[in-house]
Amino acid sequence: MDNFNRQWKLDSFPQGMPIKENWCLEENPIPELGSNQVLAKAVYLSVDPYMRGRISPKQGYAKGVGIGEVMCGGAVAEIVQSNHSEWKEGELIETINFGWQEYAALDTDGLTRVDPNIGPPHAWLSYIGMPGITAWMALNLIGRPSPGETVLVSAASGAVGQIVGQLAKSYHCRAVAVASSEAKLDWCKELGYDVGINYRESANLVSDVRDACPNGIDIYFDNTAGPIHDAAMKNLALNARVIIVGTISLAERFEEPDMGERFLRQILVNRAEVKGFLVFDYFDRYPEARKALAEGARNGDLKFKTDFMEDIESMPEAFLKLLLSQNLGKQLVRTELADRYSE
Ligand SMILES: NC(=O)c1ccc[n+]([C@@H]2O[C@H](COP(=O)([O-])OP(=O)(O)OC[C@H]3O[C@@H](n4cnc5c(N)ncnc54)[C@H](OP(=O)(O)O)[C@@H]3O)[C@@H](O)[C@H]2O)c1
Repeated sequence: MDNFNRQWKLDSFPQGMPIKENWCLEENPIPELGSNQVLAKAVYLSVDPYMRGRISPKQGYAKGVGIGEVMCGGAVAEIVQSNHSEWKEGELIETINFGWQEYAALDTDGLTRVDPNIGPPHAWLSYIGMPGITAWMALNLIGRPSPGETVLVSAASGAVGQIVGQLAKSYHCRAVAVASSEAKLDWCKELGYDVGINYRESANLVSDVRDACPNGIDIYFDNTAGPIHDAAMKNLALNARVIIVGTISLAERFEEPDMGERFLRQILVNRAEVKGFLVFDYFDRYPEARKALAEGARNGDLKFKTDFMEDIESMPEAFLKLLLSQNLGKQLVRTELADRYSE
């Protein structure tokens, strides 16, 4: 075991985009184990957009990170010591409660046992983990897709979006991708998306969305908010379902009110449903979603990309990369332990 635990602690709340200077990297003693706890060492650290909301003094849906506290985050980790009879040294676990650190002493409730027969360890943070499960749950339970319907997805090439498009196609829907670059749209095409819109290059997003969705949008999987949301809301079909999944376009001005147009008329005229979605509300149904997603990957029906960065030192950089649209696929940070596990 190492002699110390490298940990990223929050030093200040970001003004605008979070930068490296908002955290400090400390070397602290490896934590002591409490009763029934396990000590785990990180293999893969997850980098997720929700982290932006946790480093704001503004109230969110979960407790934020305080100044001087270890930055929150999920990980796949290896148990290196155990005080619990049901969890053994050498086992891999996935948890949302790991943090940006190399070692964590963890209570065992909330731990998921990583079974490599279901999917490789990194996939438990990706297509069979929180992002994949978000795609499956939100599309199936809120979107309720039917064959022939049009599904528009923002951040379509990312961890959630790459799964949504493929699921939509498997339900015989028309899938429309919105992303920031031609490289990302090429990837979306490979995934089966019927058409793509580059929102950064578009001179008129409302009419580009209209051209791509001539019968209107039946399901809008909103990963971003912002101008893409505005263009989608002006192109809804009758009885559309709008799933509010993420607001990443607001990352730079998280504390400010989201000023923009109002869409009450479009919602009324189209009898649209607008529903906020939070994957953690569906924890009991994770195994069902994971089983379906793992089966898809095993059959070769489900493709995915993972964007790896190396070493815990790169956590702030990896996070900023995600917020600046520079990731392609699920953003993860590998530690040296990852070399032992297949990707
Ligand atoms: N509600 C839930 O339970 C839940 C669970 C998981 C994820 N989410 C949300 O789902 C969304 C996607 O998450 P993910 O993990 O799959 O991340 P991701 O898509 O892999 O990465 C984030 C992507 O957001 C896009 N983006 C960044 N800034 C943007 C802007 N100003 N306008 C439009 N798009 C922008 C970028 O794609 P482009 O290159 O296309 O711009 C970037 O690659 C996030 O908003 C996240 O918070 C919600």
